[in-house]
Amino acid sequence: MKKIAGNPLIKTDSKGRIFVDLVSLEDFLKNFDTPIMIFLENRIIINVNTFQNVFKSVFGENKFFCFYSMKANFLPEICQIISSLGIGSEIVGLPELKLALKNGFPPEKIIIGGPYLPKNVIFESVKNNIKEIIVYNLNILKSIDLIAQKSGKVQNICLRVNSGKFDSRLGLNLNEKNLEKLKNLIKECKNIKITTILSHYTTQMNNLEKFLKNIELISENIKKLRKIGINIENINLGGGFPEATIMKEKQLIEIARSMKKTIESSNVEYNQIFFEPGRYFVGDAGLFLTEIISVNEDRWIFLNIGNNICPKFAKCSLRFYNISQINKPHKYKTSIAGIVPTDQDVLAKDYFFTEEINENDKILITNVGAYSLTFSNRFPYALPKMFLVKDKNYKLIFDPNINHDISIF
Ligand SMILES: Cc1ncc(COP(=O)(O)O)c(C=O)c1O
Repeated sequence: MKKIAGNPLIKTDSKGRIFVDLVSLEDFLKNFDTPIMIFLENRIIINVNTFQNVFKSVFGENKFFCFYSMKANFLPEICQIISSLGIGSEIVGLPELKLALKNGFPPEKIIIGGPYLPKNVIFESVKNNIKEIIVYNLNILKSIDLIAQKSGKVQNICLRVNSGKFDSRLGLNLNEKNLEKLKNLIKECKNIKITTILSHYTTQMNNLEKFLKNIELISENIKKLRKIGINIENINLGGGFPEATIMKEKQLIEIARSMKKTIESSNVEYNQIFFEPGRYFVGDAGLFLTEIISVNEDRWIFLNIGNNICPKFAKCSLRFYNISQINKPHKYKTSIAGIVPTDQDVLAKDYFFTEEINENDKILITNVGAYSLTFSNRFPYALPKMFLVKDKNYKLIFDPNINHDISIF
């Protein structure tokens, strides 16, 4: 059996049959109309375990902790798989908080924050004893302090610092003015404790350099904070790892080792190191089954999904396969458009595909497990049916005729 898209759980045999885990795609195509979205439970488990094993072996069992960036995919079934593996969650707001608590993430394993922290988010976080609130600007600290004070608690805080990437506007810039402001704030605010510093560099980081740059930035900021009397306990390096089929275990090990070395050589001391992967856990565990609805003379094909559910914003490493002709060479340039009626709905340009392209050919798109749903929009087409596959079984987890909406409320 040959792997498809480098994914050990998507395979084809010499007869051209394709299996996702132990289920034949024919089963889906016989029983359901496309488009269909499939998630592979075993792939998520493998990815989580690989990530945990690599980082625990490099940094030490008790030094490392991992929070799943739930915005990558917030379907309850996906959250349950990940929470059952002992991972925490990193979330941005109240809908996710409710979902995280309901789907097995205990409060002491949840960190919450983002550029928008309305009072009700702070209130619910303090009330539920959430591990840390992540702040992107200093003005919010007083509100957190006040709410914590009223509840008779001390709230742990993580400072998200600006990654220094040329176009990043997210997070704190610890310049002299802000350091002075922070110094005064911590004198004043007795019900907050700054415990952690976070820098998330970007998504889809495929080279070591970016990971190391992130560490340099963190260590510079830790030193600045030390000068104003704040001793950071934990380092949070965010996410940014590509899909697991793109970043092989060997590369992950090298990255983890180099990170450790860089941290050691910068003389930064810490209790624990945190990561917040999203894409690495779920990216290659998601796929679409779709089909060609029309073919233009100039080798443009139109599929029955588009940016409405497979959005560019998601930055997935999309791979396309003509599964009606899986054993034919995929080496003829073809451009792939979606169904949103705008010329901007392009899924791929000049992609290597089969020579023959026919209406109704079934197409497999891989690596769509992360951010596709998050960034999908409400363009008035039905959402696809969604299935969760494990071993030789599958179950319907989303039916647009019943569920209508993937919203998390
Ligand atoms: C602060 C933070 N942490 C973690 C992540 C997860 O990133 P990824 O899915 O690339 O691992 C993101 C994604 O945007 C983020 O903004």
